[in-house]
Amino acid sequence: MLLNRRIIVGVCGGIASYKAIDLVSKLQQAGALVDVIITENAEEFVRPLTFATLSHRPVFGDLWEPSGEAAETHIALAENAELLVIVPATANTIARLAHGMADNMLTTVALATRAPVLIAPAMHSHMYTHPATQANLALLRERGVTVLEPAVGKLASGETGIGRLPDTATLLGAIQQVLGQHGDLAGRRVVISAGGTHEAIDPVRYVGNHSSGKMGYTLATEARDRGAHVILVSGPVALPVPYGVELCSVETALQMRDAVYHFITDADVLIMSAAVADFRPAQVAAHKIKKSGNEVTGQHEDGELAIHLVQNPDILAELAASLNGVAGSRPVPPLKRRLIRVGFAAETQNLVEHAQEKLRRKQLDLLVANDVSRDDSGFGTDTNKVLIFHADDAMEDLPVMPKTGVAAAIWDRVVPLLAV
Ligand code: PMT
Repeated sequence: MLLNRRIIVGVCGGIASYKAIDLVSKLQQAGALVDVIITENAEEFVRPLTFATLSHRPVFGDLWEPSGEAAETHIALAENAELLVIVPATANTIARLAHGMADNMLTTVALATRAPVLIAPAMHSHMYTHPATQANLALLRERGVTVLEPAVGKLASGETGIGRLPDTATLLGAIQQVLGQHGDLAGRRVVISAGGTHEAIDPVRYVGNHSSGKMGYTLATEARDRGAHVILVSGPVALPVPYGVELCSVETALQMRDAVYHFITDADVLIMSAAVADFRPAQVAAHKIKKSGNEVTGQHEDGELAIHLVQNPDILAELAASLNGVAGSRPVPPLKRRLIRVGFAAETQNLVEHAQEKLRRKQLDLLVANDVSRDDSGFGTDTNKVLIFHADDAMEDLPVMPKTGVAAAIWDRVVPLLAV
């Protein structure tokens, strides 16, 4: 999504200026065409040469350099840019932007460009929370500037408070979200389930599976980058929450069902990529089960332990039954819009037959089937090899791809369904 995107990175003079170096490097590696504008104050902290080397492009600083080239360039730069991001944005530059001043290359370009502007303030918390800074930020927000909230943590002064520049992953996430805000999912609400559920046996053990959440989190990031409002209903995973995505953490299948039913009422799309446990222990022991047994399991002197499992509800099947008004089905809260439903099928044998059966039984618009016994597919991998089944029985066999590519392919197929 960053490939060949024209991004201006404005760097102001603050102790966090050095962090802009990593951002420029990551943007360049992702294929973006990055033009850096550095203020005079920033040059006290970081060298233009560093940015020129990393961006592979000239760096702009002095508006009044003798050749007069920069003064001409600023309009071309401003017109060609798809995004202006200011990292870090100091209280001084924020004030200048708020009052329409154009007294250096950065503020001049900011005034001249019609591209979206994203600023990442970073400063001491007293400066950030000062009414003047807050009023200036409010003014900028009113004018459509996206302001990234600084992080709370240790500041350069040694104190702890609000004012730290968010990490590079957050900055990249915010950049991608702003660049994609008018994408083909703009204005859509999508609910994505991810990860596996944990079904407690006792306070220290659970029945679970190998889902890492990578597939679901990648689907969420891709939807965000196409302009959607994304709600991620996630089982316990060890992944960072993608910037700009609304997270609802759950642990069990029953909690996932409640969360999904809650969020789909005003959603356009539901993608169930979570590996929901089909069974859960009938009873959860209040205390850790000892080797000798306890009140739930009884005594097991023979060295064996039997756990009685009961079936969990099938969220997608139950939803289909409820929408069809099947007698005795668990009612789902009324849906405000037509909901596109996408399921996954994780199989180790007879992939096509099982997938087709699930597509029909769960009445899905699309079903994405993966053979989880392959080394390059399914649980925990960065790649996936999927078959996509459509409601009219058409089947597509996609090659092995990074999960980012699979996510893009799935959304490419969902988008036309939204127009029907
Ligand atoms: O998280 P990763 O490590 O990246 O791995 C990705 C994945 C392998 C988990 C993913 O690609 C995948 O296949 N997800 C679906 C796993 C699964 O539970 O498949 P299933 O065939 O058991 O279920 C079929 C569909 O019904 C799924 O959409 C599932 O979310 C849904 N389901 C299942 C059980 C249940 N009780 N309720 C459900 O709604």
